[in-house]
Amino acid sequence: MAAMATVAKVVCCFVLVLGVANGQGLKVGFYQNTCPNAEAIVNDVMRTVFKEALSLAGPLLRMHFHDCFVRGCEASILLNSSTNTAEKDSPPNLSLRGYQVIDRVKAALEKKCPGIVSCADILAIVARDAVVATGGKFYNVETGRRDGNVSSLTETLTNLLPPTANITTLIAGFNAKGLSVKDLVVLSGGHTIGTSHCSSFSNRLYNFTGKNDADPSMDPNYVKVLKKRCKINDQTTLVEMDPGSFKTFDIKYFTLITKRRALFTSDEALLNNSVTKAYLTAQSKNGGSTFGDDFGVSMMNMGRISVITGSAGHIRKFCYKNN
Ligand code: HEM
Repeated sequence: MAAMATVAKVVCCFVLVLGVANGQGLKVGFYQNTCPNAEAIVNDVMRTVFKEALSLAGPLLRMHFHDCFVRGCEASILLNSSTNTAEKDSPPNLSLRGYQVIDRVKAALEKKCPGIVSCADILAIVARDAVVATGGKFYNVETGRRDGNVSSLTETLTNLLPPTANITTLIAGFNAKGLSVKDLVVLSGGHTIGTSHCSSFSNRLYNFTGKNDADPSMDPNYVKVLKKRCKINDQTTLVEMDPGSFKTFDIKYFTLITKRRALFTSDEALLNNSVTKAYLTAQSKNGGSTFGDDFGVSMMNMGRISVITGSAGHIRKFCYKNN
């Protein structure tokens, strides 16, 4: 009996470890033999896309994050709703854009290497290209992910963190995916590019505690600026998260956080933990000397979350539907 219990414990822990020990089966250059130009083909399409619309860099970086945090990096974010409502139709994902770019990349790859490159890997490579296109540092992307075949709206609600999250919720949410407190602060630096809808932070501008007040922890001058742009219940206006350099991958968003000019509670919350606060303060003081490299490492960690590899899963022909 005792032996059975021990075996059960070992099995249980092995499963647990598998659940968070992510990334087995991935490697840099996975397609070297099967589709040697895979990354170059992606880069080519992305160079054209970003020349036309660099503002797609933000949504495409965010898309990889939203994919990885729900069911792992297996392209569930890309599936269209069918018999059930898919992730892409859930409230936090309605502001994502750029799906047609992924289709364009996939079509280019299918032409040269049919049935070889997964949509999950496309998302990871495109995210890296978005960072580089906006001036961030190049990093190698591990590949070898395969695509899943399930996507469900309800799973986004429990796995994607809201912009109102406090530091405890953020750390727990990242830990649940096998990511560290450092990964949390580094990846939050992704907010150096892109825009946000007013509705994602207007709770901080109007009626924060139910007394027609703004969030007292936000710089009151910045509250004034934002209120001019975002009227009550505004659902459509976009605000640059890092005003003036929202298409440049720099460390200015960290500086804004230290000045209490972050848009989201979840970004300002990084001041409420000694590790995250020390990191963003140091980066904004020394010009972000390690942020470029750190971001690549943390993106690699994120890109390993619950991946499907080997002969499991499949390679979709079209990223928006199962074969
Ligand atoms: C830590 C938890 C996070 C929260 C709560 C959060 C929340 C948000 C919210 C609310 C928006 C604005 C959406 C809109 O209104 O249009 C946003 C935008 C964005 N997020 Fe995050 N985010 C988090 C982490 C990340 C991570 C890890 C990355 C990437 C590494 C990322 C990259 C982005 C980018 C690039 C945008 C701009 C998108 C665009 O231009 O359309 N975020 N995020």
